[in-house]
Amino acid sequence: MSNILIAGTGPVAVQLAYIFTTEQQNQVDMVGRTKSSKKSKRFYQAYHQHQQQLEVTVQNEQHKALAGQFKIRQLYANYSDLNQNTSKHRYDTLVLACNANAYTSVIQQMPQTVLENLHHIILISPTIGSHMIVQQQLTGINADVEVVSFSTYIGDTRVTNEVTPHQVMTTGVKKHVYIGSTTNKKDSDFMVMMQRLFENVDVCLIALDAPLMAESRNSSLYVHPPLFMNDFSLNVILNGSDVPVYVYKLFPEGPITMNLIHEMRLLWQEITLILEKLNVPSLNLLEFMVKENYPVRKETFSEQEIKNFQKLPAIHQEYLLYVRYSAILIDPFSKPDSNGKYFDFSAVPFKQIYQNDQGMLQMPRMPYEDYYRTTIIRQIGALVGIETPMIDRLLQRYALHISKFVEVHTEFEYSEQFQIKHFEADVYLINNYLKNVSH
Ligand SMILES: NC(=O)c1ccc[n+]([C@@H]2O[C@H](COP(=O)([O-])OP(=O)(O)OC[C@H]3O[C@@H](n4cnc5c(N)ncnc54)[C@H](OP(=O)(O)O)[C@@H]3O)[C@@H](O)[C@H]2O)c1
Repeated sequence: MSNILIAGTGPVAVQLAYIFTTEQQNQVDMVGRTKSSKKSKRFYQAYHQHQQQLEVTVQNEQHKALAGQFKIRQLYANYSDLNQNTSKHRYDTLVLACNANAYTSVIQQMPQTVLENLHHIILISPTIGSHMIVQQQLTGINADVEVVSFSTYIGDTRVTNEVTPHQVMTTGVKKHVYIGSTTNKKDSDFMVMMQRLFENVDVCLIALDAPLMAESRNSSLYVHPPLFMNDFSLNVILNGSDVPVYVYKLFPEGPITMNLIHEMRLLWQEITLILEKLNVPSLNLLEFMVKENYPVRKETFSEQEIKNFQKLPAIHQEYLLYVRYSAILIDPFSKPDSNGKYFDFSAVPFKQIYQNDQGMLQMPRMPYEDYYRTTIIRQIGALVGIETPMIDRLLQRYALHISKFVEVHTEFEYSEQFQIKHFEADVYLINNYLKNVSH
C-alpha cells in the first residue's frame, strides 16, 4: 500500500485519511463530487480556506491515537478530474468511504486507467454481498483486484460544525471490527498490512476467512429494519411527533413492542438461512449484542442463555431479545443519582426527513441505507432459493409509507430517495456473480 485514493469526503473519509497517513510511505488523495453536491463543495472550499489542512479530534482521551492535524497529497473536486493525473499517480488502493448504495455509481465514475491499476479495494460500510457487486463490476477491467470488506466502520465520527466539514470528531470507537478478503486468506499480505496500520491507532481488525463473514458481522443489518421500518417509527420519521419519542425505548415512548421483537427474530432467522446457504457461519445475535455492542449486567442473563441462544425455542429467543432492550433502557453501568436515576441510555431521538441544500426533501440514513441493504439481502436470498416473507413485509411497509407521504404532500420537492427503487444495476451484478460461483 502506498498510493491510496479515498472516494468520499464525509467524516468517515477524513478519519480514514488520517489513519492511512500515519504510515509515512502512504500517499493519500481524496475525491469528491462538487459539481453535483453542495455538501461536497462546502468540504472542498473549507479545505482550501484552511491551508489544505484536515483535522480529527476525539471526545475521549483514550482514543487520542486517532486524532491529529494532517495533510493529504491532493483533493480532487470531481471524479472527472482523476483523468488528468492517472499516469503520475497510479493508485494501488481504492477506499470506498461512501454509503454502500453508491459503490456502483462511484466505480462507474472512475476512469478506466485508475481501475485497471488497482490492487485492492476496501469497502468500509458494506452490506451482505457488497463485495460481490464490486468484484463483478471490475470483471473485464481488473480481474485480480483484492476486495476487502469491513464488517462496519470502526466507530462514530461526525462533523461538529457544518461550516468546517474538514474538521471531524470521533466520539466512539469499536472494540474491534472484522475484515475479510476475496483472496479467502485471512493472512493475505494486504490484510496483515491493514491490521498493522490500524494497530498504529489502537484499532483492532480481526481477520476472517471471507468477505461475507465480515459483511454479516454487523448487528445493524439485523436490528435496524425492525426498529425503523415499523408504522410507529416511519410515522415519526415522516410526520414528526407531538412529544419526543426515541428509537430504543419501549412503546409508547419508542417503537419496541413484542411484535417488533418478533419481527427482529424472524429477520435474523431469514438472514441466517441465507448465510447457511452460502456456507457462512451464522451470527448469534444475542451474543453479538451483549459481547460486542453494549454489555449488560451479569445478573441480566446467564452465560448459558447467551451461548445457547441459537438453539432455544423461538419464544425464548424473543423473550431474551426483549429483556436485552429493557436492560439497556438505562446505562446499567452508570452511577445512579440520589433519586436512583441512571443515565438515560435509550433516549436516542429519531432523525426526521429534512430539506437538503438544494431544497429537496431527503430521507435520513436510517432507514434509507437500511432499505438498500435489506433489498440486496433479499435479492441474494431469492437467488439462493430462500424465501424471505419477513424481509418482504418490512420493505413493503417502508415503500407504502413513502408512497403515501409523497401522494399526500405535493407541496415538497423530493430527492430521488423518495422514488421506490429496486437497485436493478446492483441486483444484476449480484445475479452474475452468483451464477459464476457454485455453492
Ligand atoms: N459517520 C459514522 O460514524 C458512521 C458510523 C457507521 C457507519 N457509517 C457509514 O459509513 C458511510 C460513510 O459515512 P459518513 O458519515 O462519512 O457519511 P457521508 O457524510 O454521507 O459521506 C458519504 C460520502 O459519499 C459521497 N457519496 C454519496 N453518494 C455518492 C455518489 N453517488 N457518488 C459519489 N459520491 C457519493 C458523499 O458525497 P456528498 O458529501 O456530496 O453527499 C460523501 O462524500 C455511510 O454508509 C455510513 O452509514 C458511518
